[in-house]
Amino acid sequence: MPSHKIIIDTDPGQDDAIAILLALASEEIDLLGIVTVAGNVPLALTSRNALMLCELAKKPETKVFAGCSRPLVRPLVTAEHVHGKTGLDGANLPEPTITLQKQHGVDWTIETLLAAEDNSVTICCLAPLTNVAMAMVKAPEILPKIKNIVLMGGGFFEGGNITPTSEFNVYVDPHAANTVMKCGRPLVIMPLDVTHKALMQRKWLDALKALGTPVGDATYGMLSFYERFDVEKYGSSGGPLHDPTVIAYLLQPELFEGRQVNVEVEIHSELTMGMTVVDWWKVTDRAPNATYINQINADGFFALILERFSSL
Ligand code: BDR
Ligand code: CA
Repeated sequence: MPSHKIIIDTDPGQDDAIAILLALASEEIDLLGIVTVAGNVPLALTSRNALMLCELAKKPETKVFAGCSRPLVRPLVTAEHVHGKTGLDGANLPEPTITLQKQHGVDWTIETLLAAEDNSVTICCLAPLTNVAMAMVKAPEILPKIKNIVLMGGGFFEGGNITPTSEFNVYVDPHAANTVMKCGRPLVIMPLDVTHKALMQRKWLDALKALGTPVGDATYGMLSFYERFDVEKYGSSGGPLHDPTVIAYLLQPELFEGRQVNVEVEIHSELTMGMTVVDWWKVTDRAPNATYINQINADGFFALILERFSSL
């Protein structure tokens, strides 16, 4: 019996791909649908990639909806320099044969939440928060339906990865992130401060390949491509695997540690646009609005992914 009803909001992206496959491989998760957004690459490509991943996982019945094609206020910034031209470079997957659902992703999110019981659906955000913020603004009555929001975004002690102060997902749509951070529902944040402690090791990548399955081959290929950018940039022994922390948190929360703190998003200064300002030391009287995660049992995290992928 699944214990988590979730919506995944995503811009695949190789690390999004691992998160989606991890959710599809896990019996504890009831994936109500996937909503795509413009982010790592434009919307047409993030949507295509999501469809390809559902087919790769042999779950073609998964519903995929296209959401917003640009951020709420600012022009779209993409990250082909990290993810390649398609967003899933290195995966070598065939074009999808399944198609997108007709409804807009934001409208489907609203409809799905309104039909749900109070406190029953977890929203897993792996991308700029445009769709989720749009849904909250269009239909604030969805808020009580949300059990929690677990999002990959932000960074404080590590600084940023797209500007010196700002992490990509928050930077691309800071106004949306600001709306979500202030929504009043329980929020768990997986920032760079934790994902930079989840570094892929060669041995683990080799173990993916050794699965000898289409999922093993595709994930080995895409992650070998994806990690080259961060390995060169940070001079680390492996690249960080950001988005799957969100799904792993639902499956094994004991792998993570964090603190209940106040987190606010900078939306005024061009210099620090999209910075997440974290009151880690509680030096203000701003009320805590999020569980900000900063520790991970990385061995346990990578073992979990490998174990689940062996069933796909
Ligand atoms: C985040 O930005 C994207 O490039 C990744 O998919 C992840 O969601 C990391 O900053
Ligand atoms: Ca992402």
